[in-house]
Amino acid sequence: MHGIFKLTAAALAVAPLASALPFSIPFVASHSLAARSGLAPGQGQAPKCDISQANLAAELPASLSALIPPSNASLSQVTIGFGTQNYTCTGGKFVNVGALAQVFDISCIQELPAISANLAAAINEIQGLEGGIAFENWMAKVAQWSGFKLADHYFDTSSGSLAPVFNFQVSGGDFVIGKKLQDLPDPTNPAVNVDWLQLTAVAGDAAKFLVREQTAGGQPPASCSIENETLQVPYAAKYWFFA
Ligand SMILES: *[C@@H]1O[C@H](CO)[C@@H](O)[C@H](O)[C@H]1NC(C)=O
Ligand SMILES: *[C@@H]1O[C@H](CO)[C@@H](O)[C@H](O)[C@H]1NC(C)=O
Ligand SMILES: *[C@@H]1O[C@H](CO)[C@@H](O)[C@H](O)[C@H]1NC(C)=O
Repeated sequence: MHGIFKLTAAALAVAPLASALPFSIPFVASHSLAARSGLAPGQGQAPKCDISQANLAAELPASLSALIPPSNASLSQVTIGFGTQNYTCTGGKFVNVGALAQVFDISCIQELPAISANLAAAINEIQGLEGGIAFENWMAKVAQWSGFKLADHYFDTSSGSLAPVFNFQVSGGDFVIGKKLQDLPDPTNPAVNVDWLQLTAVAGDAAKFLVREQTAGGQPPASCSIENETLQVPYAAKYWFFA
């Protein structure tokens, strides 16, 4: 069916996997540690490595610059999310009904080309070369390097309608409920990779803005025939949180 990488909850539990990666990763210990410690309590755990040079604008094609938050918003966390986008078949189309994902800090590895420049291509290439097992190892490895889980991402109706929640309780923070300000198709493979987004907070103090980009997977098949059939499509994305 759909050319989507395999993803299991077990892979996300991240018992460190011993297996070798299909590409090498530079040693990252030279990054200055915990350079940024001034996060407000609601924002959860501060990045382990300095993210002052991380630059969302540099990763975006000019055509997607609308995703960049206002200049007075300050970057607080650079992360990767792994999970599923959920759909229900309604009138012949899969309609998005939410998502469930885990969000990991990647401050110490976010400058690596595979992480920063084209996550989707890296995932697709690795999957093509090695199959789903290698991809899961890669994913677990990313989670292992990233050091800690920052947040859970899910949808709920606590704000009055079904809305995306990022809950930072697992890293000692609060939560944020987002509302879409920008929604733009993935620039390389929009039939496979979910849209790139900018959200603003409508409740909670864990972030004021967040951006989802470098998406990999998550799109459903173009049509469906069994009314009310549900589908969970694995995806990964880079999430940037701004205070
Ligand atoms: C940022 O600027 C906007 C106006 O462009 C203003 O409404 C907002 O309060 C400012 N935020 C901060 C944190 O200064
Ligand atoms: C999405 O699917 C997952 C299973 O992958 C489920 O646990 C979760 O509750 C679903 N969320 C929504 C909003 O449908
Ligand atoms: C699909 O779900 C809706 C809402 O739960 C229900 O009203 C409808 O009867 C269902 N249709 C089918 C074909 O199961």
